[in-house]
Amino acid sequence: MRIAIYPGTFDPITYGHLDVIKRALSLCDKLVVAVADRREKDPLFSAEERAELIRQVLADEPRVETEAFSGLLTEFAKSKNANFLIRGLRAVSDFDYELQMALTNRNLAPEIETIFLMPAQNYIFISSSLAKEIARLGGDVSELVPPAVEAALRKRSAGDH
Ligand code: COA
Repeated sequence: MRIAIYPGTFDPITYGHLDVIKRALSLCDKLVVAVADRREKDPLFSAEERAELIRQVLADEPRVETEAFSGLLTEFAKSKNANFLIRGLRAVSDFDYELQMALTNRNLAPEIETIFLMPAQNYIFISSSLAKEIARLGGDVSELVPPAVEAALRKRSAGDH
């Protein structure tokens, strides 16, 4: 059984992340979307809210499991018996940070390999921050995030904290 972990903050999940998830599913039997708490990033949604949105969006995908975690990613990955970590690479600007993380994770858990996947071209410039900013300013985010996330962003931007 090939188990992959796709870690991130997912504040909130975008079509870019979903594209990476679809691609990762062709490489593994089970994918665990690992939602990092990352309170230091001052997220708009709590880790459990972010995980719940992902569960809603991927409700028809039985091979995906979503869980919030805190602490070291490699420890979480080991607890799931994961064989590899998935990360999306959008542009050269992602590379330094991703290389540093992949090598650090390799030092911590040499048995777990990091695999980089490139999202479709039209998702290269999407980010969660962009979706949040557009929603906050009352713009249309339907091209960036799925409907459940759009509704949650609209609700949160309207002041439901
Ligand atoms: N499509 C669209 N956007 C994408 C994307 C894709 N395919 N891939 C990444 N992004 C965006 C995200 O939306 C996010 O945007 P934002 O900065 O505007 O919010 C940004 O790129 C990076 O986010 P994400 O992919 O969620 O990753 P992250 O950098 O927030 O996650 C962790 C980092 C959680 C994996 C890392 O901090 C971690 O492992 N933490 C646990 C503690 C630990 O083990 N630390 C040691 C690690 S070496």
